[in-house]
Amino acid sequence: MEAIQRLGDEQAKLWNGTAGCAWVEAQALLDRILQPFEDVLIEAVSASGARRVLDVGCGTGSTTRAVARLPGAKSDSVGVDISEQMIATARMLAEQERVPAKFIPADAGTHAFAAASFDMIMSRFGVMFFADPVRAFANLRNAASKEATLCFVAWRSPAENRFMTTAERAAASLLPNLPARRANAPGQFGFADARRVESILVASGWTDIDIQPIDVACTLPENELSRYGARLGPVGVALREVDPRTRDQVVAVVRKGFEPYVHGDEVRFTASCWRVDARR
Ligand SMILES: C[S@@+](CC[C@H](N)C(=O)[O-])C[C@H]1O[C@@H](n2cnc3c(N)ncnc32)[C@H](O)[C@@H]1O
Repeated sequence: MEAIQRLGDEQAKLWNGTAGCAWVEAQALLDRILQPFEDVLIEAVSASGARRVLDVGCGTGSTTRAVARLPGAKSDSVGVDISEQMIATARMLAEQERVPAKFIPADAGTHAFAAASFDMIMSRFGVMFFADPVRAFANLRNAASKEATLCFVAWRSPAENRFMTTAERAAASLLPNLPARRANAPGQFGFADARRVESILVASGWTDIDIQPIDVACTLPENELSRYGARLGPVGVALREVDPRTRDQVVAVVRKGFEPYVHGDEVRFTASCWRVDARR
């Protein structure tokens, strides 16, 4: 129990601190890179005809706003996120765009949602961080109506997503204390093992579980690459605490590490993920 509490506190601290800041600062860039996954989820919402949609770990809310904008939508689109600063940005963007999305700053794993209040629960990379995933998915299931569906995307393994660990591999000798990626623990690759994902969903009561690999082409502008490498992931966190000289060295080696992905003024990589569907 204590270990679960510690893992939860770590995640809350990260997303309300360095990781949250980095995601807010790079919001437009990240939304551009992850747009193909938004398309996957919006298609699923449209196909389901869901009226009340909950976006879990909605971050700065691009996918939540996209649901609220669906043509002819009478949908209630609600985003929930543990990061206060990401929710503040999500609200600001929804207001600017005059989109009727709503946002809840809360831990989706424990928040007391009204029972049966959503027809679809979705997430773009926001469900791999729960300290107690069985409890969290049971809590989300309680928020789901009888006919509700679940649809989310999550990363497969680091070995299948070399782009995602390029920066830390390139900077390893300059930043020897980077935290190692932990298998099956809360984090970006927490849902890499499909059998584990299935067992979490079964244990939390979800049925008709379908887990499919999807390989998605993603791009970003070459001139954004250094900013991307220096801000996000474990290297982004570590760079906030190093001296300017080390920082410049790290930025240079990281940029070099990404070279195989650069094609003229565009950076291309394949995101190897799971698309997970289930029913309440
Ligand atoms: C990788 S980001 C994805 C953000 C957003 N879905 C997107 O695609 O832009 C993961 C998000 O999950 C949120 N998160 C992590 N643990 C959470 C929890 N227990 N409850 C709610 N949100 C959580 C983080 O704050 C972060 O915004």
